[in-house]
Amino acid sequence: MNPPLPIRAAITGVHGYVPDYVLTNAELAQMVDTSDSWITERTGIKERRILKGEGLGTSHMAAEAVRGLLRQTGTRPEEVELLICATTTPDMVFPSTANLICDMVGVRNIGSFDVQAACSGFVYALAIASQFIGTGQCRKIVVVGADKMSALMDYTDRATCVLFGDGAGAVLIEPSPNGHGILDTVIRSDGSGMPHLHQKAGGSRMPPSAETVAKRLHYVHQEGAAVYKFAIAKMAEVATELLARNNLKTGMIDWLVPHQANRRILESTAERMALPMDKVMVTIQKYGNTTAATIPLCLWDYESRLKPGDRLILAAFGGGFTWGGAYVTWAYERPQASSAPQT
Ligand code: ACO
Repeated sequence: MNPPLPIRAAITGVHGYVPDYVLTNAELAQMVDTSDSWITERTGIKERRILKGEGLGTSHMAAEAVRGLLRQTGTRPEEVELLICATTTPDMVFPSTANLICDMVGVRNIGSFDVQAACSGFVYALAIASQFIGTGQCRKIVVVGADKMSALMDYTDRATCVLFGDGAGAVLIEPSPNGHGILDTVIRSDGSGMPHLHQKAGGSRMPPSAETVAKRLHYVHQEGAAVYKFAIAKMAEVATELLARNNLKTGMIDWLVPHQANRRILESTAERMALPMDKVMVTIQKYGNTTAATIPLCLWDYESRLKPGDRLILAAFGGGFTWGGAYVTWAYERPQASSAPQT
């Protein structure tokens, strides 16, 4: 376990945003050679949201989530001291999407930056935020996980395009009001996993050109089976490591909050932890894999069912490879006016 910090950080609010457009399995079946039954059986996904509209990027969804979070928690923009955006689909290579979000929501003159750890990005950002709270450097931090995965999808690649969707989820991190909060975090990576999951062109190694566009090198390249095996191993490993080093037994866990990549991966992780599925947060059927947004969107969805003191294990994995997790005890009762969707 990490050495305890002088001040415990806690999640004190959550809000999400998903675009209105629903891309169903039936519609995908008109675009590629697939079917609702294949997608449902192999992934658990029924539909995903897609951000439409010229000029709208990840920052649009993130700003919507952050505005809702500030409203919900009664936080004024000038009170926010740090904003971290976890994303793999930044609006631009630079400036950072976090910078753009600050401008859009009226947060000025604070530190803001992006974290790029693919689907583990939210857990990475949470670990960073808890350090800034823990040392006393900040008292109100916004962490937002947001991705417009549709911008990177090759809608002729049936094995990948059925999995991903767009969305954003934001949390407020503050010093714990009651002792509950972020008790432990783990972040890990292994860059040798790159060949299995990456975007080939568009970075400094292979800058964009007419040739890279013609060869369709700007889309997500995923070797599904290799990623699947790695995901199952690492999700379970990080969850069991968090249990062991915090002296927890599975029966003490109220909720597993896993990155939503494929329902079969969630089921395997739960099985390896000997946790029943009714203790696993699942939103994949309606949002698909929204990369850095899946975990905060789960928290938003299930907020009404969370009670102070509930023990949560967060677990994520993603491109890189990256993986990580957190042991969190829930710090607050959901406010009456919360607009979270019901699961
Ligand atoms: N519809 C119909 N058939 C399909 C589809 C589809 N959408 N996609 C693949 N198939 C076919 C394949 O072509 C293959 O056919 P073949 O046997 O004739 O060659 C068959 O289905 C089986 O393919 P598999 O790849 O073995 O299918 P699998 O059951 O492994 O499911 C999947 C594929 C869903 C991609 C799975 O491997 C998976 O979920 N992998 C992990 C993905 C993941 O977690 N990504 C995380 C990304 S995290 C981040 O950081 C971005």
